[in-house]
Amino acid sequence: MKIGRKELIKKYIDFFKSKNHKEIKNSSLIPENDPTVLFTTAGMHPIVPFLLGQKHPLGKRLVNVQRCIRTGDIDDVGDTYHHTFFEMLGNWSLGDYFKKEAIEMTFEFQTKILKIPLERYAVTCFSGNKNAPKDEESAKVWHSLGISKDRIAFLEEDNFWQLPGTGPCGPCTEQFYWKPNNKSAPAKFNPEDKNWVEIGNDVLMQYVKDEKGKYNLAKQQNIDFGGGVERTIATLNGLEDNYLTDCFKPIIDEIEHLSGKKYKGNEKEMRIIADHIKASVMILADGITPSNTEQGYVLRRLMRRAIMNLRKLGFVGTDLINPIARKVFEIYSDYEHLQKKKEEIYDEINKEEERFEKTLEQGLREFEKMSKDKKISGKEAFLLFQSYGFPLEMTQEIAKEKKITVDVSDFKKELTKHQELSRTATEGKFKSGLADNSEATTKLHTATHLLNQALREVLHNKEIYQKGSNITAERARFDFNFDRKLTEQEIKEIEKWVNDKIKKKIPVVCDEKTVEEAKKHGAQGVFEHKYGDKVRVYSIGEVSKEICAGPHVNNTSELGHFKILKEESSASGVRRIKAVLE
Ligand code: ALA
Repeated sequence: MKIGRKELIKKYIDFFKSKNHKEIKNSSLIPENDPTVLFTTAGMHPIVPFLLGQKHPLGKRLVNVQRCIRTGDIDDVGDTYHHTFFEMLGNWSLGDYFKKEAIEMTFEFQTKILKIPLERYAVTCFSGNKNAPKDEESAKVWHSLGISKDRIAFLEEDNFWQLPGTGPCGPCTEQFYWKPNNKSAPAKFNPEDKNWVEIGNDVLMQYVKDEKGKYNLAKQQNIDFGGGVERTIATLNGLEDNYLTDCFKPIIDEIEHLSGKKYKGNEKEMRIIADHIKASVMILADGITPSNTEQGYVLRRLMRRAIMNLRKLGFVGTDLINPIARKVFEIYSDYEHLQKKKEEIYDEINKEEERFEKTLEQGLREFEKMSKDKKISGKEAFLLFQSYGFPLEMTQEIAKEKKITVDVSDFKKELTKHQELSRTATEGKFKSGLADNSEATTKLHTATHLLNQALREVLHNKEIYQKGSNITAERARFDFNFDRKLTEQEIKEIEKWVNDKIKKKIPVVCDEKTVEEAKKHGAQGVFEHKYGDKVRVYSIGEVSKEICAGPHVNNTSELGHFKILKEESSASGVRRIKAVLE
């Protein structure tokens, strides 16, 4: 192998450091401030607040490698290049350099450091639409660097990058590599030709998409570069299959060894097993355990699908995953958080395998009975889900192989019925999160920090802390431990305390610290299990200090007038305040 995973990452980080970028941490797969998605899907995800204008403590140029999960790709895993878990190289300009420098740096890294020859290189630029004009400027920069006009293609949809929900976005310019070893690249670039592989994407972030789907001009123009580690290594090593890179090969070798079967002829199953086990280990490492909701459900689905594919290769019984998972720990020996949790992860995997083993055979028999009429009704699929632990997608997959139909919409109705019954249990799952990153929620988020402190001050009780918080563009909802109703007088004083701080025009500053340092500095924080090695601490002058992912306003003067609408009981010993900014 000419270049491996660790070497590529090092070259990339070193290069951007030499261009005055500061390295930021590789954040958790579980987004800290965005309940609209289950997983971190791109390197830019954890830094959304800073792309929206918050000042980053490390400055305006950042670089890292970020672990990501894309659940939308689960069903595509099995080919040569789809993965659930992958790593993304990322560099950012937060209102600093824009198109020209970004393209020049990307080009220098890819062609000088990685030595990609120009014959194998092509790019796309944005062709323009109703949201943004054609990007002639980027094309000119590429051309000036020696890319012929024939190797610059203009595209529309593929060249506008955005997160699935709200947030910063914009046109992008992507770089492609000609993969085949045995034929030379055509002079004219055709982005539809699968021999061209996308290896990098510079997003020119000029817009912020709001809840209504409207594109507003951003206050700050950013660059967001992302490049997939696995595919970059594959291309640089002349491999047509990402699973043959050192990110996967040791896992595939182990599956071959343990099954006594060859990769060739069993590629699909082995790729699914390798990908799903790796993703499962990574999700477990970030604190999720298998369950029937949200991230826990994705994890369960991945593990059970891996087991089903292991069975296809002839594996039986339990303790199938861990012998393969061992290789994940070896490949990612640089992930400290992962290494630290090794035993815990092995343990969780075994527990889940045993749970599944108990019901799997019975479930499969039940499936046979149910499907005699070549149909699985919604109720039946729900029974398989509820009583035998079959994720819907697994039922669908088995059904597809046997040419049996599954009534998915009816299943969903059954699930909703069931969920309504247990809603109280699941409600408030994302209490600590922001509903979106709009200006209104950002302001309310800062106001919530003030409220948190005001409660301790006005009620003269240092033991009061946040039990939950839920913010929409309209209002903030804040839960805290306290054992009686607040008096009208107290509510007035709390409002006054907060409004005083707003009037004082206090700057809001963000620092990055270890959890220990943050605690030593007296920062409030209640969701410790979610914190990584480094945390952000937001200080509002001397009046408030909290561990928090943001985003926040830059100065309390931006908030307006704070008003408490309601104070009520939320649970035993927990009070709830609803408040607005006017
Ligand atoms: N955020 C961009 C992407 O995911 C770089 O492609």
